[in-house]
Amino acid sequence: MSQRSQRKEEHLALAKMFFNKQKNSDFHQVHLIRPALPETKFDNQSLNTQLFNHQISMPIYVNAMTGGSEKSYQINKRLAKACAKENIPMALGSASILEKEPEQLNSFIVARNENPDGLIFANVNPDTSPESAKEIVATLQADALQIHLNTVQEAVMPEGDRNFVWLDNLKRIREELDVPIIIKEVGQGLDPATINILIKNAFTNLDLGGSGGTNFAQIENERRKHHDLAFLEDIGLSTPKALLASKIVKQKATIFASGGINNSLDIFKSLVLGANYVGLASHFLKFAFLGSNELCQEIEKIKSELIMLNALYGINHIKDARKVKYYLDTDLYTYLKQIKSMY
Ligand code: FNR
Repeated sequence: MSQRSQRKEEHLALAKMFFNKQKNSDFHQVHLIRPALPETKFDNQSLNTQLFNHQISMPIYVNAMTGGSEKSYQINKRLAKACAKENIPMALGSASILEKEPEQLNSFIVARNENPDGLIFANVNPDTSPESAKEIVATLQADALQIHLNTVQEAVMPEGDRNFVWLDNLKRIREELDVPIIIKEVGQGLDPATINILIKNAFTNLDLGGSGGTNFAQIENERRKHHDLAFLEDIGLSTPKALLASKIVKQKATIFASGGINNSLDIFKSLVLGANYVGLASHFLKFAFLGSNELCQEIEKIKSELIMLNALYGINHIKDARKVKYYLDTDLYTYLKQIKSMY
């Protein structure tokens, strides 16, 4: 097995090892205010959503995880099967490996084969050449491209990149492609300054990728076999913090919230805090390890709970979630005051 393929397998195994050891995601600091007389009812039509000209069953997606190894093939097959059945989008893991190892294609293309009509995002690193990015999108028949920003992960990886000068290449990739581009963090959170720069440069699909869930500093520290960079495990902005930060940026973007989202209430809170779409990675991986039916059952459960939350919180459709009133615990409230004064 190549070193890259081995890394993909290790990421899956280590994500699994950390499933129940994830750090604080701050969602418990966000409290929603419930109307006792909501004048609403449970409505199966209250979740339907559009994304990139596709009709999807609700505003959630499977976030980027894997591809490039044997285990990846199985996981992507199960994820894609469930996404096809439940009609939610799926992001593939980074396909930059295909530049060096085209023989790994099967583990990615299995998603399109299982889900011919569904919404699929390809994913690459920000150093990928525009030509390769274009080829990857075409080969994987992807509807959009996620480009991940993962400085902390690279810094902890002994074999990682040490050059984070990426913006010009991001722009060149965009010029080359005719599908939407989503710029995404991988679990340390997009900060307001970066959000500003990205929007000014016309990148308007942003996945905040906050901390509190899968933590790549932790995963890469484990791969090093000694934890001498453990201090990097706590430097991220949690997803609620990144969401609050994105609200203070004047220009508007389409916000994908992800990182540490593990249940329907966290999904709902993310939408209340301004997300347009909500991504789950490790939570869905947990069920994909069991099988595609188990994953479908979990997605169905989330769907019925979101229908319930709409009714309980007095909204007729999930697109109105941001109308729900909320208050914050002192820690988040203090953070919000400080971050507002900085930008
Ligand atoms: C990831 N993630 C990820 N992100 C990315 O942009 N490209 C990638 O190749 C990967 N690979 C990957 C592998 C595994 C096993 C996991 C669990 C995750 C990061 C992922 O998309 C997401 O940003 C984080 O996992 C945070 O979300 P959760 O896991 O807390 O829901």
